[in-house]
This record gives sequence, structure tokens and C-alpha cells, in this order.
Amino acid sequence: MDKTEKIVEITNLSKAYTQGHEQILVLEELDFSISKGEFISIVGPSGSGKSTFLNIVGLLDDVYSGEIRLFGRRLEDLGEAEKAVLRLKNIGFVFQFDSLLPEFTVLENIEMPARVLGGAAPGRGLELLKHFDLEVIAHKFPMEISGGEKQRAAMLRALRNGPALLIADEPTGNLDRHNSGVILDDLRRAADLGTAVLMVTHNEEAARRADRSLRMAGGRLETPK
Ligand SMILES: Nc1ncnc2c1ncn2[C@@H]1O[C@H](COP(=O)(O)OP(=O)(O)O)[C@@H](O)[C@H]1O
Ligand SMILES: [Mg+2]
Repeated sequence: MDKTEKIVEITNLSKAYTQGHEQILVLEELDFSISKGEFISIVGPSGSGKSTFLNIVGLLDDVYSGEIRLFGRRLEDLGEAEKAVLRLKNIGFVFQFDSLLPEFTVLENIEMPARVLGGAAPGRGLELLKHFDLEVIAHKFPMEISGGEKQRAAMLRALRNGPALLIADEPTGNLDRHNSGVILDDLRRAADLGTAVLMVTHNEEAARRADRSLRMAGGRLETPK
């Protein structure tokens, strides 16, 4: 694995929200990069701009200033359609609260991103489930599995298309200690398989499991002393 290959490179990123007549600057001249297979955690107080940052990196928000390169390509050179494909193929998301579709089985949920791209192949989803020792829940529905299993299933769904980048916004925020540990093991494994993992967390232990831990403060990402 070429661990020097940059998956995301950001320079001078600023972002402000408009509230009434006021501009609230949330991100201010922030620089950041993450390489292939690297696991980075971000900590910081509530309201410091962590989710705002993840949404921009994940192409869910395109109102900002600064330069962003994803997979070596400048975002400003890409059209909306190209960005949509890039997001589907190369970026996986996991959020704090599980987002599995209740009327589909775990395997069907995991296959959903592939189906959207027109390439569903349940064998691949099953392989992922086996790889993470979860094949026993393949044919269960979300209401039949535990909170920890739901979160792990949502993570496998995010990994289904073999994304270069996995974005996780407080993925253990709703889990007990044991299940948080399992999710962190999974994220570590995903990184070791070559996915760049960018995780926001409130959990100090979670932050320590990453290759690099950054702190969001004053609109920037700092390396804690
Ligand atoms: N859509 C929005 N419109 C206006 N302000 C927002 C919006 N989203 C977030 N904010 C504000 O931006 C700041 C950063 O929010 P957020 O990125 O969600 O922080 P964090 O994820 O670190 O808790 C907060 O002050 C929040 O109130
Ligand atoms: Mg947040």
C-alpha cells in the first residue's frame, strides 16, 4: 500500500454560516491532509465545526472558500454529476445514529450503495459480512439486531463500494464501551485494508486508537501537544 498517496488535501479552507444579518465563521484558514490507509481522529468541543468540516470533505456541502483536492482532483474542476459519482464510489459515511432501512435485511442494506451504482452483487456484501465476522446477521432485519450490530452493519454498507475514504461522525457516540471497541477495531481494520478513515469522536480512547489525532479549535485542526 502506498501510504504516501494523498486521499484528501485541503488548504486555506474557510466556512461561514449566515444567521440573520450575521456571518458566523466556523472554519478559518484550515489546512488538512489524509493519506491512503491512514486513520485520523478529530476531537473538539460541541459546536466547534467538526461536522461542518466532515460535510465539506464528504461533498455534502459546497459552500466554502479554499482549495480541496480529493483523490488528486481539484473539486472546483468537477461538475455536479462528477462529484455525485465520486461521492457514491469513493466515499463512505457512518453517522452517530444508525440509518439502516428497516424494511430491508442487513445484506440488502449493505448492497444498497452498489445497487444505486447499478452493480449489486450480494456475494460481495456477504464477503464483507464474513470478513468482519457478521455473517450471522446477514438475513436479519434491523429490528432483530442489537444497536452495536446496527452500527457495524451501517459501517459495512459504507465500505461496500470499496471507498478510498470513510467518514465517520461520532460513530460510537450512541454505543456502550464494548460495542465502541468493536467499531474501533472495525475502523482500524478498514484502514489497514487501505481505506483512509476520518473519524470525529468525543471518546478519548477512540482518539488514541487512530494513527493521528487532531483537535478542532478556533476553526482549525491542530495537533495536540
Ligand atoms: N446549517 C447551519 N446553519 C447555521 N449555523 C450552523 C449550521 N450548521 C451548524 N451551524 C453552526 O456552526 C457551528 C459548528 O457546528 P458543527 O459543525 O455542527 O459543530 P460540531 O460538529 O463540532 O458540534 C455551530 O455553532 C453550529 O450552531
Ligand atoms: Mg457534530
